[in-house]
Amino acid sequence: MSATIESSVFQDYDAYTPADYSVWKKLAERQLTALRAVACQEYLDCLDALHPVLSPDHPPRFSDLNERLTAAHGWSIKVVPGFLPVDEFFGLLARRRFCSSTWLRGEDQLDYLEEPDMFHDIFGHIPLYLNQDYATFAERLGQLGVKYAGDEEKITQLQRLYWFTIEFGVLRQADGELKVYGAGICSSYGETKHVYDDPRVEIVPFELDAVLAQDFIISEVQMKYFAIRDFAELWAVVDELEQRWAD
Ligand SMILES: [Fe+2]
Repeated sequence: MSATIESSVFQDYDAYTPADYSVWKKLAERQLTALRAVACQEYLDCLDALHPVLSPDHPPRFSDLNERLTAAHGWSIKVVPGFLPVDEFFGLLARRRFCSSTWLRGEDQLDYLEEPDMFHDIFGHIPLYLNQDYATFAERLGQLGVKYAGDEEKITQLQRLYWFTIEFGVLRQADGELKVYGAGICSSYGETKHVYDDPRVEIVPFELDAVLAQDFIISEVQMKYFAIRDFAELWAVVDELEQRWAD
């Protein structure tokens, strides 16, 4: 492992307790089973590629994950204590860093969290950084965030774009089947069921202007999802935004 990776990560791995191992195992096993049927193929391929670094058997060791991420497309995990200011967050993405907390929820919080923990950040977000299309989309989104830092309207629009793709993205396959790829869904048993089972949920084709105009509330369950056709569509979206904003 390179010195740069080591110095960018601090996870006190030995501090995880048997209770943490047990919670991680329960969460990961439950989600792996649920996602086999509903996650998009790209996410499942990445999960398989990360095994056994990412598995129910133990909390993930960030240094091991970083080796895999860096070798694939130059990404690595940046440990953060909690929510970051938006400028910092986009700045990290632009430099191919994804931030993660190191704490894990307790047994009594398997289904509800006020703040993202390591299960959400790692299990939900990290696998797709092995997929080049997705990883490049995240990087370009970050670059736009850096370029337009301080422009409140554009930053709000980028946050919405992030929210309805990386956080709560779904994908409508050519055969009409709906798959999920957003980390907020992939890391949550309740959200996974909600997307498919709640009759109030509305799923509409991804349309850039509609997404940029769609407000969201972090603490509330999603009632509207925007379905892309494939990851190439994400690139087209960033192309469109870059062009539009450059004019
Ligand atoms: Fe997230």
